[in-house]
Order: sequence, then structure tokens, then C-alpha cells
Amino acid sequence: MSFNKEFIFGVATSSYQIEGGFDKGGRTPSIWDTFAKTKGKVVNFDNGDVACDHYNRYKEDVAIIKELGVDCYRLSIAWSRIFPEYGRYNSEGMKFYKDLLMELKQNGIKTAVTLYHWDLPQWLQDRGGWEERECADIFLQYAVKCFNELDDLTDMWITHNEPWCASFLSNALGEHAPGKKNITSALKAAHHILLSHGMAVREYRSLGCNKPIGITLNLSPAYPSSNSYADKLAASNADGFLNRWFLDPIFKGSYPFDMANLYAAHSLGFEFVKAGDFEIMMEKCDFLGINYYNRTLSKFDAESFMFSAGAESNYEKTDMGWDVSPDEFIDLIKMIRQNYTDLPIYITENGSAWTDIVEAGYVHDDKRTDYLVKHLKAVAKMNELGLDIAGYFCWSLLDNFEWAYGYTKRFGIVYVDFDTQERIKKDSFYRYQQIIRDRTV
Ligand code: FCB
Repeated sequence: MSFNKEFIFGVATSSYQIEGGFDKGGRTPSIWDTFAKTKGKVVNFDNGDVACDHYNRYKEDVAIIKELGVDCYRLSIAWSRIFPEYGRYNSEGMKFYKDLLMELKQNGIKTAVTLYHWDLPQWLQDRGGWEERECADIFLQYAVKCFNELDDLTDMWITHNEPWCASFLSNALGEHAPGKKNITSALKAAHHILLSHGMAVREYRSLGCNKPIGITLNLSPAYPSSNSYADKLAASNADGFLNRWFLDPIFKGSYPFDMANLYAAHSLGFEFVKAGDFEIMMEKCDFLGINYYNRTLSKFDAESFMFSAGAESNYEKTDMGWDVSPDEFIDLIKMIRQNYTDLPIYITENGSAWTDIVEAGYVHDDKRTDYLVKHLKAVAKMNELGLDIAGYFCWSLLDNFEWAYGYTKRFGIVYVDFDTQERIKKDSFYRYQQIIRDRTV
């Protein structure tokens, strides 16, 4: 199965997961520094102080990206490098990204820059973070600074990465920074994140900039674990929780009422939704970014606030315990095309974690390679079906700090020895290189 010349092949990372240099160049802590340094939050008490030391080794990493042969590299900016304190701009922090983007440009690699991949400055969390509407205004100031300084060196912009994680996973489920367990906090955070997205897109256009700009959502199609009415309800609610709560406001201008009814007891009467907010959230983008890892299988659970829990399945599972589910990837994109949008879609992340073993200097990661091939075949199939996928970014270039799992989960197509910082290209790297070269999978 083949890909046309315009199809963008890419590879992705994010700032806190790879950079290290946590106190270099004037950077101040983000909520992830604080969270990771709070006992019991991250496996092995790992943190991103050093991570892949990309801050110092970015040239070596760009050379690896070049060797891979991708068209585009997706990275994110650490907000607290740019604004280490409220209202204080740090040109030294910006210089790191200018140098990095310049290095990529000189190597003929296009760039997709994400403004927010979860590392909120701690000073901003101290003001209330995403729960406060003010956070959207402060994000806008940060976004404008990045647009002004970096637009020439950037080929596409992503405002936010996975608002579901930055809101519900972080503020209701407590698994990510800032680690709150409060549905109201999550609802407010989600609202202000989506609002800030629309505000940034609007402002980007009014600055006269014209690179493609969009948002990245993590989406997972939900299926009932049986034919029972209760399990179907559970799947519908899981879909509302993960997918529709974000897709509906962006493309339909409203939160889905079935979910709003479930949240109403926690929503303070939705007083945080102001007149005109949905119009801002609906500001037209140039593309939709989708991160896809796995399907969701749901069963009814009376204890859960949304009456839904994950169900056991007999699918093959990655090291994260996630179902390997490439067919459902196709279902998801069909659903998006049917219910939401004809904007170009980029798969801005897809990949898998497995236990890797270094043998005589090689990593024979057959399972990761197999996952990659299956999902790229699914993407090629989508394009055959006319579903218009414009590009695919593999997660991730390097093994890195996998959030609450620390360094225990490896998603890289390049192995990182975290003691020596040695990089070893895995078999999946070479397979992806070949797919890109041949434009065929
Ligand atoms: C996504 C995140 C990314 C990475 C992968 C495995 O949810 O965007 O940073 O952690 O999962």
C-alpha cells in the first residue's frame, strides 16, 4: 500500500519528556517538575531533570531525525523557558527553540510546533492554572510571543496537545500534574484550554500569519463489552467523556448534553461558560490533529461517575496494557468524517511501548515494528477510502520520560540508555525509514 508525494511522514516528541536542562537558560519549574518531585506520583520517583538531555544534544538528535528521513518533526515548547515568571519574557529560553528550529531547517526538515504539551509554568498553576479564565489570556500572550518569534521557522502550529489529558486526567483522575481529583476543576480546565485554543487561532490569523494551525485531540473509539443496554450506555458515556466533550465544542459549538447532564452536579451551573465562548472555540482551523493509540472497551459500572469502566478484552496488549487495535483506528476516522469535519487530518501521534532488550548493540523490537506497520497500513487504507489523512507522526523519536510511568515505558524508535545517554536505533527505526523512503508499507 502506498502513500502519495504530498503525504507527510513525521516523528514526534515533547519538551518535558526529552529536554532535561530543567534549570538551564533561565527555565523555571513547570507543574511536571513539581508533580514528579512529589513522592508517590511518578513510578520510581523519576523526573525530567535530565530526561534525554536533548537540551544539550539537540544537534545529535536532529542528525538522527535526518537519517530517519521524515518530512516533518513535531516538538513542543516549554512555556516556562519563555516566560519564567508572570509577565517576564526570557529571550534566552526562546533562543533554544530558534537554534533548534534553525538546525532542523538547515537539514531540510519541516517542523510542527505544539505550544502546550502539559508543562504549565508552576507560577501559573500558583495563580490557579487552567481552572482560571485568566489562564487563557496568559496563554494567548505566550502564543503571540511564539508566533512573532518563531513563525518563520515553523511549518505548522498545534495549539494544544490532548486537552482531555490536561483537564480530566490531570484534574479529575489525579494521574497527571497538577494531580487534582475534582471534576469541577477538570471541567473548568477543559473549558479554558479550548477557549485559549480558539483565541490563539484567531490571533494568529489577525497577525497576518498563514501557516496551518490546529489542535491535537487524543481520541479513542469506545465499544460496549457486550450487547447489553447497560454496556452500550457505558460505551456511549466513555465516548462522551473522551471524545465528544472536545469534538463537539470545536465542531458543533456546544458541549454534548448527555454528558453535561452527568456533570451537572459538579458544574456549578456551568457558570464558567460565558456567552460567545463556543464561537471562539469553533474558530476555523486548517487541520485536526489526532493522537491514536488504542480503542476503548467499556462495561457498565454503577460506582463510576460516568457509569463506565474499562472492560477486559482478549486483544494483544502493549506494555501500557492498551489493546492493539488498528481496525478501530479506521472506524474512528470514519466516525470523524461522518459526524464532525472534512478538514485535513494529521495523525499527530501513534506508537507503542514494549519491553526492549539491547542485544549486542541492537534492539530487535518486532512488536513495535509490527504495531507501526499495522497502523500505517490502516492509514493507507483510510486514504484509499477517501478519508483524507494528510500525515502521520510516529510517537516517539526517543525513549523518554513517560509521565506518571517515568522511564519504565519505552515508546521510542530510538533506544536511550538513560545512564550514558547513548542512542541506539531500534529495528522499528529502520523499518520506518524504509517505509518513508519507499512511500509504501
Ligand atoms: C500521549 C502523549 C505523549 C505520550 C504518549 C504515549 O498521550 O501526548 O506525550 O506520553 O501519549
